[in-house]
Amino acid sequence: MNFASLPYPPAAPALQAALPAHYQAVRAQSVALVQPLLPEDTVVQPSLDVSPPKWHLAHTTWFWETMLLQRFAPGYEVYDPQYAYLFNSYYNSLGSRVNRADRGTLSRPPLADVHRYRAYVDEHMAALLARLPELPAAATELVELGLHHEQQHQELLATDIKYILSTNPLAPGYLSNEQLTVSSEQLAAGNCSLLTVNYSLSAASWLAVPGGIYAIGHQQEGFSFDNELPVHEVLVAPFELQNRLVTNGDFLQFIEAGGYQQFQFWLGEGWDLVNQQGWKMPLYWSQTAEGQWQRYGPTGLAPLNLAAPASHLSFYEADAYAQWAGARLPTEAEWEVAARHFGATPTGGNWLESGHFDPLPLPADADPTQCHQLLGDCWEWTYSAYHPYPGYQRAAGPLGEYNGKFMVNQLVLRGGSCATPESHIRLTYRNFFHADKRWQFTGLRLAR
Ligand SMILES: [Fe+2]
Repeated sequence: MNFASLPYPPAAPALQAALPAHYQAVRAQSVALVQPLLPEDTVVQPSLDVSPPKWHLAHTTWFWETMLLQRFAPGYEVYDPQYAYLFNSYYNSLGSRVNRADRGTLSRPPLADVHRYRAYVDEHMAALLARLPELPAAATELVELGLHHEQQHQELLATDIKYILSTNPLAPGYLSNEQLTVSSEQLAAGNCSLLTVNYSLSAASWLAVPGGIYAIGHQQEGFSFDNELPVHEVLVAPFELQNRLVTNGDFLQFIEAGGYQQFQFWLGEGWDLVNQQGWKMPLYWSQTAEGQWQRYGPTGLAPLNLAAPASHLSFYEADAYAQWAGARLPTEAEWEVAARHFGATPTGGNWLESGHFDPLPLPADADPTQCHQLLGDCWEWTYSAYHPYPGYQRAAGPLGEYNGKFMVNQLVLRGGSCATPESHIRLTYRNFFHADKRWQFTGLRLAR
């Protein structure tokens, strides 16, 4: 079978009819994410990886203005000609821009102006969306891309806000306890206040996945990013996968066994980082003078929940844990094959819309013969380089810069997280980060 020539599906009238409401919902969700913040919180940039929330709100708006309105709305006047310089992210084909490291210097324009910019663009987009059936099919494709682009920035908003607030010495929470929708039962399942050594790795079970020649990549109707194509065949040997994510309790055993002090578990680059950065635990973990383990979460510092999936791990830490546990990380092909084999679906997962803003423990009565948490909670590091699929070709123009130019020196993560919007994810979705990055909700699942 030749998978290489599967085209993008044509724009269906039903899709076009649904897009105006979806546009409004996605745009409102971005604003809602920033709503708990003070205006001052939206300006700072404590790390090169993190962008100020105000910048995210403006950049996503610039994307609509540049990709859709300037192209498909005759006579459209840009809101402010200087915004292209301020809010272009990385598109060389769209001109010069503020250095990424300087996004936190943008005290102007004020947040209120950015909200006015959003309203201006939304008004013009509403008119454009009403004309969508008359426009070339490329317009509909770009609207879908724009929605997914804004949803990607919603995940970044959630993780960047967490990082920004965590680095403030006051360590304010993003939400109050009352605002969190997480059930007290789930939190109570794994709270620990003291060092604990009785948490057993055997709590996870191993599930077999048959080997074979499998088709990998986006094979359904509907949107996908170009990096999920072309569909192609891979040979996968039989393997086993753990039925759940590695938990904080599991990872604490690694720490208590001296995992951060023993070079033999680490890749060379990871061991260098451990020593240079003084890493002794995952990002957001801390230990009080009395030995209590804490973690910065959506409501601020809280006791470490041993039953919750371990998150904010670099690839190096995930791999070192796997080495210590006598296992390995899955490849991205194995992950996708397993997700299909076990019938994983986004429905019911812990996504951005769940409102937990943190990975959740597996219920105590979860079936050990089923594979859990494949979609939602934490991105899962794979031991696969983020390379183009065979036959991949970059699009012409700015869209060729969207994914293709990042296909080197990064690793693929699969499955989405508690910060991913539910309508954004697919089983074939390929996320990618450098091996040292820890500020996303990145965790792991063992394979062997
Ligand atoms: Fe962007």
